[in-house]
Amino acid sequence: MIREEAKIKIDELVELLQKHNYNYYVLSNPTISDYDFDILLKELEQLESQFPEFLRPDSPSLRVGGEPSKNFETVVHKYPMLSLSNTYSEEEITDFDTRVRKVTGDDVEYVCELKYDGLSIGLTYINGILEQAVTRGDGVQGDDVTNNVRTIKSIPLKLHGDFPNEFEIRGEIFLPLDGFNKMNNAREEIGEQAFANPRNAASGSLKMQDPTEVAQRPLDCFLYYVPGNQLDVPTHYDSLLESKKMGFKVSKNIAVCRNTNEIFEFINDWSYGRKQLNYEIDGIVIKVNSLAQQKQLGFTAKNPRWAISYKFKAERAETKLLSIDYQVGRTGAVTPVANLKPVLLAGTTVKRASLHNSDVIKNLDVRINDSVYVEKGGEIIPKIVGVNTKLRSLESRPVIFTSHCPECGTSLTKKEDEAAHYCPNEDHCPPQIKGKLEHFISRKAMNIDSLGEGKIEMLYDNNLLVDVADFYQLVPEELLGLEKIIPGKNGKKDSRISFQAKTVSNIIIGIEKSKDIPFERVLFSLGIRYVGATVAKKLASHFKNIEAIEKATFEELIEVDEIGIRIAESVINWFSKPEHISIIRKLGEAGVKLELEESEGESSNILNGSSFVVSGVFEKHSRDEIKTLIEKFGGKNTSSISSKTGYLIAGNNMGPAKRKKAEKFGVPIISEDDFVSMIEPIA
Ligand code: IVH
Repeated sequence: MIREEAKIKIDELVELLQKHNYNYYVLSNPTISDYDFDILLKELEQLESQFPEFLRPDSPSLRVGGEPSKNFETVVHKYPMLSLSNTYSEEEITDFDTRVRKVTGDDVEYVCELKYDGLSIGLTYINGILEQAVTRGDGVQGDDVTNNVRTIKSIPLKLHGDFPNEFEIRGEIFLPLDGFNKMNNAREEIGEQAFANPRNAASGSLKMQDPTEVAQRPLDCFLYYVPGNQLDVPTHYDSLLESKKMGFKVSKNIAVCRNTNEIFEFINDWSYGRKQLNYEIDGIVIKVNSLAQQKQLGFTAKNPRWAISYKFKAERAETKLLSIDYQVGRTGAVTPVANLKPVLLAGTTVKRASLHNSDVIKNLDVRINDSVYVEKGGEIIPKIVGVNTKLRSLESRPVIFTSHCPECGTSLTKKEDEAAHYCPNEDHCPPQIKGKLEHFISRKAMNIDSLGEGKIEMLYDNNLLVDVADFYQLVPEELLGLEKIIPGKNGKKDSRISFQAKTVSNIIIGIEKSKDIPFERVLFSLGIRYVGATVAKKLASHFKNIEAIEKATFEELIEVDEIGIRIAESVINWFSKPEHISIIRKLGEAGVKLELEESEGESSNILNGSSFVVSGVFEKHSRDEIKTLIEKFGGKNTSSISSKTGYLIAGNNMGPAKRKKAEKFGVPIISEDDFVSMIEPIA
């Protein structure tokens, strides 16, 4: 096919597939079979790989996931992402209405919406093309998760009709219940821990590094707020209608209410109606409709004064507390779990409930054989929230909190200022050993992603792993053919995981690769209490190698910037144990980095604080490598272009929107080679 024809065909296919995506995911009204859709998509992908210069930033082929990213960039929100103040009663809504009317007068209208239980997201479109998706974070700045969000089919990559050149809209990403259940069943079948609830699953999915994996998760998104009246319309309701016209998924379960009675009716309807929905809501959001009135009301430091959320009360049941078990978590914290006489709660039979810690037991004055109230909040495990003392009988016995670890028998400890009891046997208590092993391989630590919770458990059960140095002693022959049978639940067949050649070789390669992980992350991977990633970085750059940290005195430790008494004590304590020293020796012998690389400690300031945006695909370095070099040579990484940006480093396939923006602000666009020559005198 000649180039011109290819371009025309690619454009045609992109638009056709966009239309079908919209029909399917936004309107829920598909007009083509899945099979025919896939054929068209394959045709598009084939043409795009043949003519990469015509790959459009809004191509539906990008929804299958882009390049994996190691860390998400932090982006400052243009409009702060505030939360809503919560209420639980009708009186509080009446109070809210009174407060509003004092400012706006009596001519006021409200929009009632569902409160989706997911994660808020801000989407920015430049010239109608999705440019950036940022999580709420702390409200001031969040994570750039654009590549992951592109995989969500109901989010338009390109807007329809009229739209401002730069446009930001807010909404909630969530996981529909059917998708959530399917995903959890699949996880349980391969021995991975199920997600506690759809919100955790959605948030876990959005934070995954590899967008191709995110693309497998059936995430969805409702849009509910356009900040800053960017559409120049009189009401919030109009802004939603306009957004709908642009192709966004806006819920139809919205009502305009004239008074509190109409609001209560909406709340009442949905407190029952929510059970029919294929997604979770945890309340109702009430917003003043007129944007002029919203402006009049303004914001407090944390919340808008023109909106409020009404949270549904958790469902509650009453039953008998039969006994208490104790569970030891990965960190050694011991949690009491109540065994209950089975009771029906929110559609499921509940037999166990969390009691959190000994303070909760004491404060609620819960006793064995008491009649207790159980509530289901956002988590799968319900919790005990109170006792019906009227039904307390002679059988009732006070709870004596266990004094020993149920896993390893060690005496428990409890610090004055902490609620939890801990098992101090961190190196020999099974769940704690597994916790340390899992921490070691995790993404921010040694990043051995060919291993996970299920596989670690198998290796541990087969005595192949006891401490983190054992990863480097694993040999393929020992792993090949290892098997685990996972008993089927609810009448389902048993399933088995077994280590095949491919799995084993991936594990060994992953472990081998971890030897390149820099010292500061190795230090973090050891799981020394209170030594998080930032503290590890500080210690590494101060002491340069593990031996110096091992030998450091308390005084030397607290001299380091940001290292206080608690951290110093913990470090001294960790290095005082001979078995920890032996782990370090073994890691060193295996070739794990226990000192800073020559160049790692030194940095240069040749880039003098200039800010860079790196975009596209590069030939000689990965994007992450370029970003590391920028920081190493005294520059700053930012993700969006503004008048303050120093340079845009452009790779292949960079989106046209970025180029346009750089041109608009007069930001120099440089190549990978140009950048390398900027730092060359030193590199
Ligand atoms: S409006 C400035 N509408 O609830 C107000 N929020 O604490 C912007 N949420 O962070 C929020 N459904 O994640 C709004 N229909 C809805 C919502 C909603 C869920 C979430 C959102 C926000 C939190 C409020």
